[in-house]
Amino acid sequence: MPNKIREEIKRLKDERGAIILAHSYQPGVIQDVADFVGDSLELSRIAAKEAAELVVFCGVKFMAETAKLLSPESIVVLAAPRADCSLAACMSGEDLRKMKKKYPGASSVMYVNSTLDLKAETWSCCTSANSVEVVNAAPSNEVIFGPDRNLGTWVAEQTDKKLHIWPGGCHAHSGADIRDLRDKKAEWPDAEILVHPESPSVFLWEADEVLGTGGMIRHIRNSQGKRFIIGTEEGMLYRLQTLFPEKEFVAAGIIICDDMQMTTLEDILKALESDDPGIQIPVELAERASEAVRRMTEIGK
Ligand code: 13P
Repeated sequence: MPNKIREEIKRLKDERGAIILAHSYQPGVIQDVADFVGDSLELSRIAAKEAAELVVFCGVKFMAETAKLLSPESIVVLAAPRADCSLAACMSGEDLRKMKKKYPGASSVMYVNSTLDLKAETWSCCTSANSVEVVNAAPSNEVIFGPDRNLGTWVAEQTDKKLHIWPGGCHAHSGADIRDLRDKKAEWPDAEILVHPESPSVFLWEADEVLGTGGMIRHIRNSQGKRFIIGTEEGMLYRLQTLFPEKEFVAAGIIICDDMQMTTLEDILKALESDDPGIQIPVELAERASEAVRRMTEIGK
């Protein structure tokens, strides 16, 4: 049966001029049928460049919205329509308006894991791959940063700018237990520890490198190391094992995002079969939000 679904997905994809984009956290079966697997920034750039008739996005809501902003002519369907991001829900456009009143001279940089309404209020978005570069490119010395506190704290250590950080967080990364990482370190003393900057500071202090998911892949590709302890959502382990079968990976702890794990092959098939008009964004909101997102794609690696 799964093979039949895969064949049907391939047939419909070709027939409809569709592409399937999957974030590196997606379940292995989803990564395997995707045309592109990548981090938030890579997938945004691919959506803009490919401008396919239909984009089936396997990830969470803010990612599909970002793809739609960058490729407005495409129909962009989120394969698992209920998949949302707990971090994005932590801060609204109204919250940012209040912060701007409090810090009138400051620019604002919002992590792309955010609502459209927040994107529409900010000078630029960033991803974990280019957060430091975007903050450094901001036109003022003070920067309001949100919604992720852990990422903001980490960026604040890499820049001379003064950051005003919103106290939001990713429930999956924030819930990880540092004792698990310490146990893994004791079991694999030779391993390199790579941690996503959405993790709490105590994880970052134990890490050899603090990197987004795309940065982890680039680092491992250039590393002589054979074993790695990975501090991010567990779907990433499948991605790494597929890319680097000769190396070994273990999770730094229990970091599971249920929303990221929601997508099924049946969801993708349904998205390809239906006349779903996909993500719809009111014009004025799209204009304001896409400026911040475009700026993000133009800055950094
Ligand atoms: P990346 O920017 O590394 O793709 O991470 C996205 C994300 O949602 C992390 O939780």
